[in-house]
Amino acid sequence: MKDILEELERRRKIARLGGGQVRIDAQHQRGKLTARERIDLFLDEGSFEEFDMFVEHRSTDFGMDKSRIAGDGVVTGWGTVNGRTVFVFAKDFTVFGGSLSEAHAEKIIKVQDMALKNRAPIIGIYDAGGARIQEGVAALGGYAEVFQRNVLASGVIPQISVIMGPCAGGDVYSPAMTDFIFMVRDTSYMFVTGPDVVKTVTNETVTSEELGGASVHTTRSSIADGAYDNDVDTLLQVRRLIDFLPQSNTSPVPEIESYQSATDADNSLDTLIPANANKPYDIKELIQKVADEGDFFEIQASFAKNIVCGFGRIEGSTVGFVANQPMVLAGVLDSDASRKAARFVRFCDCFNIPIVTFVDVPGFLPGTAQEYGGLIKHGAKLLFAYAEATVPKLTVITRKAFGGAYDVMASKHLRGDLNYAWPTAQIAVMGAKGAVEIIFRKDIADPEKIAAHTKMYEDRFLSPFVAAERGYIDEVIMPHSTRRRLARGLKMLRNKDLSNPWKKHDNIPL
Ligand code: HXC
Repeated sequence: MKDILEELERRRKIARLGGGQVRIDAQHQRGKLTARERIDLFLDEGSFEEFDMFVEHRSTDFGMDKSRIAGDGVVTGWGTVNGRTVFVFAKDFTVFGGSLSEAHAEKIIKVQDMALKNRAPIIGIYDAGGARIQEGVAALGGYAEVFQRNVLASGVIPQISVIMGPCAGGDVYSPAMTDFIFMVRDTSYMFVTGPDVVKTVTNETVTSEELGGASVHTTRSSIADGAYDNDVDTLLQVRRLIDFLPQSNTSPVPEIESYQSATDADNSLDTLIPANANKPYDIKELIQKVADEGDFFEIQASFAKNIVCGFGRIEGSTVGFVANQPMVLAGVLDSDASRKAARFVRFCDCFNIPIVTFVDVPGFLPGTAQEYGGLIKHGAKLLFAYAEATVPKLTVITRKAFGGAYDVMASKHLRGDLNYAWPTAQIAVMGAKGAVEIIFRKDIADPEKIAAHTKMYEDRFLSPFVAAERGYIDEVIMPHSTRRRLARGLKMLRNKDLSNPWKKHDNIPL
C-alpha cells in the first residue's frame, strides 16, 4: 500500500514540475510566475482542486512520442475567490510553449463545460503560442471546440482572460470572445501571428511590444480592458473584479457590507460644476462620491477616456457606471467611446447589473475622420445597447445633454427608469452659439441682435425645466442628494420586470 501511495506522490511531483526546473527558472527570470504559482495566488488559499494532472498528448509525428509531459501544458480545475466558486485553467509556457494539443483542448473543454453546467465564472490564464504546430488539424479542431464553448457561455457565465506571456493564434482568439481581457505590462503580448511571421509575410520588422504589448491593446486597439505592472498585481485586480460580478445570468449580484451611509448629503457635489459651462471637471469625482467607499473598478481606463465605464457598489450591491468625462474632448461621443460604452452596457444587461449613467455630453463628434470611420454605426451601437437593456437604468444629467447624445445616454425615451437632472443641466438640441447661428442666420451681422437671441435661447432651453415640464426628467435634484436618490431608486427597482419581445437574437450594428 505504501508503495502505491508513494507512486502517486512521485507522479504528482513530476507533473507539478511541468517542463522542468530549467524552464521554470527561465520563466522566473522573465519576471513571470508559473501556471501553478498563478493559480495558487489567484484562488483562495488551499482552495484549488486540480483535474487531469496526468493527461498526456497522443501525438507521434515529429518525434513527439518521445516527448510527453504530464498535464500537457495546461493546469485546470476549480477553487474559490473570496468563498465563491470559479473554474480556472492556466497555460504552462514551460511545456511546448503552452501550445494547445488535442488532449490539452480536452482539459480546457472539461472545465468550460463544468463552469457552464454549474453556473460559475471561468478564468483563463494565458501564456501560450496557440495551436500546437506538430498536431496540425487535431489542434485546430481542439481550438474550435474551445471557441464554440466560449460562445455558448457568453452572456450566461462571466468569462475572464488574463494574458501573462506571449500569446498567439487561438490563445488570442479565445480570449477575444470572453467578457474581459487583462494584460501584464512588459511581459505579455497578444497577436494573431508573432513578429517572426510578420517579418516573413510582410517584411515588416516589429518588436513584440510594438505589435501587441499591453500599451497597444489598452490604448489603441482596445482589445484589453486593463493592464497592471506584474503577475501578482494583475491576479489580485482580477479577484477584485470577480467580487463585483454575479456567478451567472440567473444569479443575483453579490451583496457586500457597505460602511458608508446612503442618506448623508455630500455638499461638495453642489460646487462640482464650474460656473463657466465650458470649463471641465472630473466626472470620476462624482462616481467616487456616489459609490460605496469610493471603490470603483474602471474598465478600459486608458482607451476613449471621454467616457468612463466601470463597476462600483451602492449600499453593497453592484452597479455599472457609465459617464461622459468633460475632462477629455469635453465628454463628446465619438466612435471609440460609443463602442467602449456599448460593450459595457451589454455586459451589465447580460448579468442583471443595474446601470447608473451620468450625462454631460456636448453631442457626437463632427468631422470626416469620424464619419469615414463609421460614427453612424458605432454611435448606433451605444443607442442600441441602452435601448435593448432591461436592467434598472438610472440617469443623472449633470450639465450638457445635447442633440442625439441626449437620446442615446439612457434617456427616458429609451426606457430609462429614473431620469434625474441637476439644476445645472442644459437639455437642448445644441448649445446656444450653434443654435442661434442657424435659426437667426439673417441677423448674423448684427452682434446686438445675436446677443439678444442667445440670451433668449439660453434662458428658455439651457436648463432642465423644458424637459422636466414634459416629464422626460422625473425630478430636478440637488447634487448633494445624488447618492441618496440613486440608492432609494435602486431599492425601488429591485423587482423590475421587463422583457423584450421574443427573438432568436437581435441584430446590433456590428
Ligand atoms: C508548438 C510551440 C508553439 C506552437 C511555441 N512553441 N509556440 N510549440 N506549437 N504553436 C514552443 C517553441 O518551439 C519553444 O520550444 C517554446 O515553445 C518557447 O517558444 P519560443 O519561441 O522560444 O518563445 P518566445 O521567443 O517567447 O516566443 C513565443 C511565441 C512564439 C511568440 C509564442 O513561440 C511563436 O510565435 N510561436 C508560434 C505562434 C503561432 O503562430 N502559433 C500557431 C497559431 S495558429 P523549445 O523546445 O524550443 O523551447 C492557431 C490556430 C487557432 O493558434 C485558430 C485561430 C482562429
